[in-house]
Amino acid sequence: MKIFYSFEKLNAALNKRRQDKKRIGFVPTMGALHMGHLSLIKQAARENNTVVVSIFVNPAQFGPKEDMKKYPRPLKNDLSLCRRSGVDFIFLPDSKSMYPRPYSTFVNVEGLNEVLCGSVRPGHFRGVATVVAKLLNIVRPDVLYLGQKDAQQAVIIARMINDLNFPVRVKVMPTIRENDGLALSSRNAYLSGKERNDAVVLSKALLLAQTLIDNGQRQADRIISRMKQLISKKRSARIDYAGIVDLENLMPLKKIKPGCLIALAVKIGKTRLIDNVVVNQGRFSKQRKPCPFKYV
Ligand code: PAJ
Repeated sequence: MKIFYSFEKLNAALNKRRQDKKRIGFVPTMGALHMGHLSLIKQAARENNTVVVSIFVNPAQFGPKEDMKKYPRPLKNDLSLCRRSGVDFIFLPDSKSMYPRPYSTFVNVEGLNEVLCGSVRPGHFRGVATVVAKLLNIVRPDVLYLGQKDAQQAVIIARMINDLNFPVRVKVMPTIRENDGLALSSRNAYLSGKERNDAVVLSKALLLAQTLIDNGQRQADRIISRMKQLISKKRSARIDYAGIVDLENLMPLKKIKPGCLIALAVKIGKTRLIDNVVVNQGRFSKQRKPCPFKYV
């Protein structure tokens, strides 16, 4: 496994791979890697001859009130996980090289940016789309691997790729969970013992929604209010949003339809967690295939 700090050296190594007709799979991350990230890396290793992972805590996607300095950076552990998971190239740029001064160009995926998480984290997805566009231009992979855990992010990136004609395919892999259903996230480390137990309520609420739909409920507002009722039972929980939306345009739906997205953001204590399911995708435990996002 080779570590690169500069675009130029990474580019030279990747050009050589491209000349040898190697297929390049790319997994962008912010580090603090866990089994969720590793599932993307392993899928990339199965499907490509060269796997590139970037680790970059992107300042452009953190709001002024969000503490980027607190973001965990266990680099040594990340590198050893990557080494064991079949990564060929690690890209570790720094902020100065990614955002040289002066810097003026940002990518705004209109309409999808402002809803769900975008309504609570203004500017967040502009930062995400910008850094992913830059990374795609630097790495020029054949396939980009993303997690369904961040479904809105995946929808926005897929739209950007479509709109701006990036020559790359996108694969959105299912969410990896703890045994009790809690979606793996770097932020779970911030939870106290009691909060960790309460946090399972997100996946429980999504399972409740799936059960209601299985039993014939089609009214989105009824399902949302049952999910909110369940979550509100936990004293540590404060709901940011619970939404049922079209997976293509992220607009709220009145009635459930196959393939729609049920998405949640809940603060457990001070930690903001997100989770989601796609209707008719199958229960958590059976999900193995890429998420059936319509246009990826
Ligand atoms: P990060 O939070 O490090 O996540 C990197 C990738 O791992 C994302 O595609 C995310 O959806 C996926 N992932 C996280 N938890 C997962 C889980 N439990 N199961 C499956 N996949 C999971 O998302 C980002 O970084 C950044 O916004 C980034 C795209 C790198 C741009 O800075």
